[in-house]
Amino acid sequence: MRLEQSLWTSLLSAPLVVGSSAHYSVTNNDTNFHSKCSAIASKLAVENGTVHFSEFVAAGTNLSVPDTDPSCTQSAIVVPADVCRIALSVATSNRSGLVMEAWLPSNWTGRFLSGGNGGLNGCVDYNSLAYTSSLGFSSVGTNNGHNGTGGKPFLNNADVVEDFAYRAMHTGVVVGKQITEDFYGKAHDKSYYLGCSTGGRQGFKAAQDFPDDFDGIVSGAPAISFTNLTSWSGHFLTITGGENSSSFVTMPQWVTVHQDVLKQCDHLDGYVDGIIEDPRICQYDPSGLTCPASTTNSTSCLTAKQVETVKAVFSPLLNDDGDLVYPRFQPGPEVTGAAILFNGQPFPYTTDFFRYAIYNDPSWDPVTLGSDDYNNAARLNPFNIQTWKGDLSGIQQRGSKIIHWHGTADFIISSDNSPRYYEHVSSTMGLSSDELDDFYRYFSVSGTGHCTGGNGAHAIGQRTGEVNSYEPKENVLMALVDWVENGNAPETLIGTKFVNNTQSLGVEFQRAHCKYPKRNQYKGEGDPKAIDSWACVDL
Ligand SMILES: *[C@@H]1O[C@H](CO)[C@@H](O)[C@H](O)[C@H]1NC(C)=O
Ligand SMILES: *[C@@H]1O[C@H](CO)[C@@H](O)[C@H](O)[C@H]1NC(C)=O
Ligand SMILES: *[C@@H]1O[C@H](CO)[C@@H](O)[C@H](O)[C@H]1NC(C)=O
Ligand SMILES: *[C@@H]1O[C@H](CO)[C@@H](O)[C@H](O)[C@H]1NC(C)=O
Ligand SMILES: *[C@@H]1O[C@H](CO)[C@@H](O)[C@H](O)[C@H]1NC(C)=O
Ligand SMILES: *[C@@H]1O[C@H](CO)[C@@H](O)[C@H](O)[C@H]1NC(C)=O
Ligand SMILES: *[C@@H]1O[C@H](CO)[C@@H](O)[C@H](O)[C@H]1NC(C)=O
Ligand SMILES: *[C@@H]1O[C@H](CO)[C@@H](O)[C@H](O)[C@H]1NC(C)=O
Ligand SMILES: *[C@@H]1O[C@H](CO)[C@@H](O)[C@H](O)[C@H]1NC(C)=O
Ligand SMILES: *[C@@H]1O[C@H](CO)[C@@H](O)[C@H](O)[C@H]1NC(C)=O
Repeated sequence: MRLEQSLWTSLLSAPLVVGSSAHYSVTNNDTNFHSKCSAIASKLAVENGTVHFSEFVAAGTNLSVPDTDPSCTQSAIVVPADVCRIALSVATSNRSGLVMEAWLPSNWTGRFLSGGNGGLNGCVDYNSLAYTSSLGFSSVGTNNGHNGTGGKPFLNNADVVEDFAYRAMHTGVVVGKQITEDFYGKAHDKSYYLGCSTGGRQGFKAAQDFPDDFDGIVSGAPAISFTNLTSWSGHFLTITGGENSSSFVTMPQWVTVHQDVLKQCDHLDGYVDGIIEDPRICQYDPSGLTCPASTTNSTSCLTAKQVETVKAVFSPLLNDDGDLVYPRFQPGPEVTGAAILFNGQPFPYTTDFFRYAIYNDPSWDPVTLGSDDYNNAARLNPFNIQTWKGDLSGIQQRGSKIIHWHGTADFIISSDNSPRYYEHVSSTMGLSSDELDDFYRYFSVSGTGHCTGGNGAHAIGQRTGEVNSYEPKENVLMALVDWVENGNAPETLIGTKFVNNTQSLGVEFQRAHCKYPKRNQYKGEGDPKAIDSWACVDL
């Protein structure tokens, strides 16, 4: 702790310089780019900041990033395009600050982009830096104000919580735009954001509170209504109890539940393929799985108590006053959910958030989580981390655009929460879907897990490894660019499922994911793997 204090104090006591008089322009001469990159570190002047180094990284390099916290589980990243990599720290108070990197491609499109973070981290998203710089964006990413995936740095340090809630990313954007201008000798033309999960929340935080930061925002699976989400993630343990509790449902039993969910809901979209296109129309009832009285310890049926557990998992979380805290776990991804959320263990992010950001009490016991805790966290709402403002008029007036998307097989953040936010914006602003379409569009992406993967057509260009092409119709980031720069607003997001999730094996099928409030329905004829055998219909 002492070390950290002195680090930030020394950063702050460095001479403060506003802006920079140095300007650099890039030619197509690689040698020139190389030497400008080496020189920039000593010439940049970043307010409250210290530039650690700048280095040219050639396309194809497997870059080692040894300083990254081990919990971030990233020690190397393949860099697809020639970039100038700049690493710096920026103090945000005398006891907090962020680490950030800017990756400036030699083949710059004039576009700036910030990535975000995930979970409670704490980790520069190198995948995002690599992906987006290779598409010609001048890209930045921060560690969101602390190192590693855990919440301990929040303990008794509200400045670190403030960084995590909004300040680290906003600071990274302000600094990143300045570095971009200083390096290339001209300001960016358009500014973008791409993030998922906590990164999705950060995108909406910018939309709500810093609308000038971006011309376009891709916000995936957003962790919005954040304290309530955190309560919800932790409350499953209070439903299931530990693994030996009579209310606990075992993994083989969840497999049975999943088959029953599919039996009840898979056909509702007109085609049985293991994918529930839109869980909004699935009201699953597990009663039929109740064991006959004589049965014991079966994996193919549930005790009455276990049926109640399953019903509770698929019900909205309410506090003791009956107020909605957070929507249900949506039916579909229950087997993965059972491994992560209903596994009879405390959910680590919930434990850390309540211990270190809400109560400043490392002995707080996650088994005791209850209505008072949901209410306390929502009331304290540190630095408005909920990110639930329904007024997006800053975005609307500025002409910025938001693409919001959510995988309907998300097993970490309920996909039911995304339409809830959309409706909240609609009612707060008094705008219909047609009117929201001008600046805010929401797509539910079927069969897609938490940000990536799944049985469905989950590759929408959201990150490396989830890319079929850079065509706007099948790449969510390029769709945003096309909307912002050419006015071509997306009607669908075409997702791709690769054979065995391996691009080199070819395309298994594609699906055009619908814009809310429509849902996808098989037409009843035609190859179900073809997008035009499906139609976006009213709910
Ligand atoms: C590229 O830039 C370097 C350094 O600025 C210069 O020495 C060299 O002549 C340039 N090469 C070409 C082909 O323009
Ligand atoms: C990059 O290097 C790391 C070790 O530093 C290694 O684990 C990884 O496989 C390498 N990636 C590629 C694509 O070579
Ligand atoms: C976070 O990690 C960076 C290296 O990436 C290091 O320079 C910095 O001191 C660390 N910050 C804290 C608060 O430990
Ligand atoms: C620099 O730090 C000071 C003191 O913490 C703060 O008031 C100021 O806003 C910071 N500047 C920037 C650009 O973040
Ligand atoms: C840090 O800043 C706070 C308020 O900005 C001030 O109260 C405190 O004394 C400062 N601490 C140190 C060690 O400078
Ligand atoms: C630079 O980008 C353009 C389009 O963005 C692309 O056509 C070209 O191949 C790229 N050149 C290099 C050297 O990457
Ligand atoms: C559950 O019971 C088994 C067998 O008695 C035991 O090994 C295990 O530790 C128990 N688990 C918990 C969480 O109490
Ligand atoms: C229940 O059955 C499983 C195997 O199906 C066995 O491992 C377990 O010990 C049994 N539990 C009880 C309480 O009988
Ligand atoms: C969060 O939960 C509280 C109850 O603990 C509720 O009053 C509030 O409306 C919820 N907020 C959101 C954004 O869901
Ligand atoms: C796909 O994976 C399965 C099992 O993992 C394997 O049996 C099959 O051969 C793979 N198909 C191809 C085309 O590689």
